[in-house]
Amino acid sequence: MKFFIRTFGCQMNKHDSERIAGLLLAHGFEAAPIERADVIILNTCAVREHAVERLAGYVNSLGSHKKRGALIAVGGCVAAAEKDALFSRSRLIDIVFGPDDIYRLPALIEEARGGAPVVARGGADDFCASDLPVRRDEWFRAWIAITKGCDNFCSYCIVPHVRGREKSRQFDDILAEVDAAVEDGVREVFLLGQNVNSYGRDLYGEPQFARLLAAVAERGPRRVRFATSHPRDFSRDIIDVIAAYENVCPQVHLPVQSGSSRILELMNRQYTKEEYLEKALTIRERIPEAGISTDIIVGFPGETEEDFEETLDIVRTVRFDQVYTFIFSPRPFTKAATMPDETPAGRKAERFARLTALVKEITLERNERLVGKNLEVLVEGPVKRGKGVSGRAPDGRIVTIAHAYEPGALVTVRITGAGPHHLVGEPVRDVVEATAGRRDGC
Ligand code: SAH
Ligand code: SF4
Ligand code: F3S
Repeated sequence: MKFFIRTFGCQMNKHDSERIAGLLLAHGFEAAPIERADVIILNTCAVREHAVERLAGYVNSLGSHKKRGALIAVGGCVAAAEKDALFSRSRLIDIVFGPDDIYRLPALIEEARGGAPVVARGGADDFCASDLPVRRDEWFRAWIAITKGCDNFCSYCIVPHVRGREKSRQFDDILAEVDAAVEDGVREVFLLGQNVNSYGRDLYGEPQFARLLAAVAERGPRRVRFATSHPRDFSRDIIDVIAAYENVCPQVHLPVQSGSSRILELMNRQYTKEEYLEKALTIRERIPEAGISTDIIVGFPGETEEDFEETLDIVRTVRFDQVYTFIFSPRPFTKAATMPDETPAGRKAERFARLTALVKEITLERNERLVGKNLEVLVEGPVKRGKGVSGRAPDGRIVTIAHAYEPGALVTVRITGAGPHHLVGEPVRDVVEATAGRRDGC
């Protein structure tokens, strides 16, 4: 049988999709383009309502594949949130399976071939998709989950409700996977978790992320990255490890969500504006070249003009290098969905526009400071429009290069231009190592 996977949502879903592919290949399935697939798998995201609406539209566009006999399997966070209710969104769905049911997918597909819709139930809590074989979408990058689930219950967030409680993987299992990735020639190891900083709390009584990060760096991958950092658990010893190891990329994704301590409390984020600032400014001081990125939610229930001004204020103070901005979306199971929310949508949209205008100004200024500097870029692929490729600098910035390079190439460039969302680089010297044969190898 042939399969095709389409992935929505975050890096954890990308990771899971690579494991789904690895599992199916190990069971004798073959990867194929959607037109020839016998089973079309959608790995879904439920974090905002908009994502769920888009999914229903996408499923309903698959009618022609359904007619030729393809099965449609919906996995990921929407599957975990809605289970049987998903069938009412679309009659085309054959299989519904959550993140804890991935390991059963070959059996679920077999069952669905009988003709009746199948919903996976009672997924294994101790199952971690990282224990499955992997088929990497990009040969040069290994996504490695170090925890699954989340215990934080931020009041707006559906993730703990669909991904379950936080569970850390064994230290040695993670290192073994890092070794295998290095052996495969992978250039970047990306450690994943909803809150990587609390890694190990369930295993050792206290977080061990700094120790893990150092141990991973010692195994010698060219680049090590990680996300997401929770500001409450982000500690000085993590900054020390980033500063100490050249292969740990100087980038921290530290979602602030709001600059108002009052709103942060309603969000159950468990830090104040001052505590956040202290950590972010310590990163700036200790690792001046670090890129600090963040997420911000505009229009949380009860957000006043003063609260919003405080968000603008923290953006001005930290001078973030990248900001992902969202308008609050009420989600099922969450506390915030029941909070009174009197701010009109128009006012939220207006705040959102003010925030994005400020962010653009600051990120442009931060990017322009790098013009004239040399940076090493890990090429990811062709640019979407026009000629050339784009990749990432160690600090996480996107850099475009107007030359042809294979994905995975490492190219040192001189920065010649900057926009609010990217840099432009001109190659200085190629440090491309032999890549032949690698792409097919994994
Ligand atoms: N574990 C990560 C990722 C969570 S989802 C973290 O803690 O950051 C990614 C981002 O989506 C969040 O940081 C938040 O900014 C945004 N988000 C989550 N739920 C949301 C909601 N209900 N409405 C709007 N944005 C939301
Ligand atoms: Fe959601 Fe908060 Fe967990 Fe992130 S830390 S996944 S925002 S509950
Ligand atoms: Fe990720 Fe979306 Fe699920 S952000 S954890 S795929 S709800």
